[in-house]
Amino acid sequence: MAERIDTPRCTLVNGDCFDFLGEVPDRSVDLILTDPPYNIAAYSTGNIALPGRSALNNDLAPWDLESLEPARLAADFRRILKPDGNIFIFASYNMLGKWHAAFDSEFDTFQFFVWHKTNPAPKIYKNGFLNSCELIVCMWDRGHRWNFSNQREMHNFFECPICMAPERLKQPKHPAQKPLRLLEHLIGIASDGGALVFDPFMGVGSTGAAALRLGRRFLGVETDGEYFRAAAERLAATEG
Ligand SMILES: C[S@@+](CC[C@H](N)C(=O)[O-])C[C@H]1O[C@@H](n2cnc3c(N)ncnc32)[C@H](O)[C@@H]1O
Repeated sequence: MAERIDTPRCTLVNGDCFDFLGEVPDRSVDLILTDPPYNIAAYSTGNIALPGRSALNNDLAPWDLESLEPARLAADFRRILKPDGNIFIFASYNMLGKWHAAFDSEFDTFQFFVWHKTNPAPKIYKNGFLNSCELIVCMWDRGHRWNFSNQREMHNFFECPICMAPERLKQPKHPAQKPLRLLEHLIGIASDGGALVFDPFMGVGSTGAAALRLGRRFLGVETDGEYFRAAAERLAATEG
């Protein structure tokens, strides 16, 4: 039985989202904002040792090695999203085709958004591009809800630094913790106050923290017990 924590504005589940999705009611979610495994660890040349400093992390998380099939999420995401809802999913270059193949026919619109990291990790061997951009695929149907006041907010491009101290958790350290500034921008333009935001791959709860800070409600699932507990503590402190 998956552990579950309910608070006035949050429901957090420590379990596998593929097992949990069936419990989410039809047309109940306003915004799905999630950052699933990128499946890039298999391409990695390994963490790079740096003299006198901690190793440069090259996305070698064990959860990233398990193959993720976007097609397994399409029918449930379609079912649980309200007709005027939006979906934003962080997607790696190698998974982009799979996300498009699984979701393009499900929604009226399939687009992409770029996050430009102003402080990407250096390429110490100077042998290629810095990994300074991440893609987020976006889907919605005609008549969906936007919440912007000026077109300037609506570039499909956003710049901010990667998550740094003091926002970055020290224990446990999550290699993919996303910055609140980016998540708050996405939640702000694509949902209203009180909306239900769902993240089935919540890590240490960054989407939830951003949602609560903006007066939304949050439903999150995380399979790893340590990340789940860190998310629960973080969101309890945010909810106050
Ligand atoms: C890229 S990370 C998300 C990081 C998150 N955005 C944050 O800022 O903390 C993906 C997370 O999904 C979790 N995960 C992988 N497979 C899962 C599954 N089937 N159900 C729930 N969580 C899963 C991993 O443990 C990992 O923490």
